[in-house]
Amino acid sequence: MCFARFIYLCAYFVFMRRYIAILASGSGSNAENIINYFEKNNQVKIALLLSNKENAGVLERARRLDVPSVVVPKNDWETGEKVMTLLRQYQIDFIVLAGFLLQIPEILLRAYPHKIINIHPALLPKFGGKGMYGNKVHEAVVAANEKESGITVHYVNEHYDEGEIIFQTKCEILPEDFPEDVAKKVHALEYAYFPKIIEQVTGNDT
Ligand code: GRF
Repeated sequence: MCFARFIYLCAYFVFMRRYIAILASGSGSNAENIINYFEKNNQVKIALLLSNKENAGVLERARRLDVPSVVVPKNDWETGEKVMTLLRQYQIDFIVLAGFLLQIPEILLRAYPHKIINIHPALLPKFGGKGMYGNKVHEAVVAANEKESGITVHYVNEHYDEGEIIFQTKCEILPEDFPEDVAKKVHALEYAYFPKIIEQVTGNDT
């Protein structure tokens, strides 16, 4: 490889690489799947994991996978200033919510327009909004006798689950399915699609 090409490639990786922060409050199986997906990726680096819960399972996963993690207590998410300091410190370009339950503060929404994405375990606009998370979503879907559910990846705005939709895909619900069965089908979709959508979104911002 000639020297000029080498310099070009170094500059490309330094300046074009996207640094992502994952925000998660729970077990973090999606966070782990995303971290593994991008482990050897030159364009995307999972640079930071933030949680609001100090006993969240996702923190153990981040430690095991060698991703820096910080717990920011709930009160500090109201102004978001501490979070902003961390995001700057880790040079974060994009924020991915993977089971994060708090409202995203205004300061972050302004600093990251169209750069904060969330995954919701149902087909929005149905079964979304404050308090609709985890198994509550699947219980509501089954109670409503829905024939299908799925996942929605969307940008985050000031209202829970109302930002512009980026991607949706569906799974079938059988009459005999319990909420736990729906959860399994939805999780399988999340693992298969969410990292790919993150890759597309972060690669399309230039
Ligand atoms: C996922 O179902 C995701 O859609 C929702 O929160 C759940 C997180 O699960 N936003 P996990 O912690 O990644 O296992």
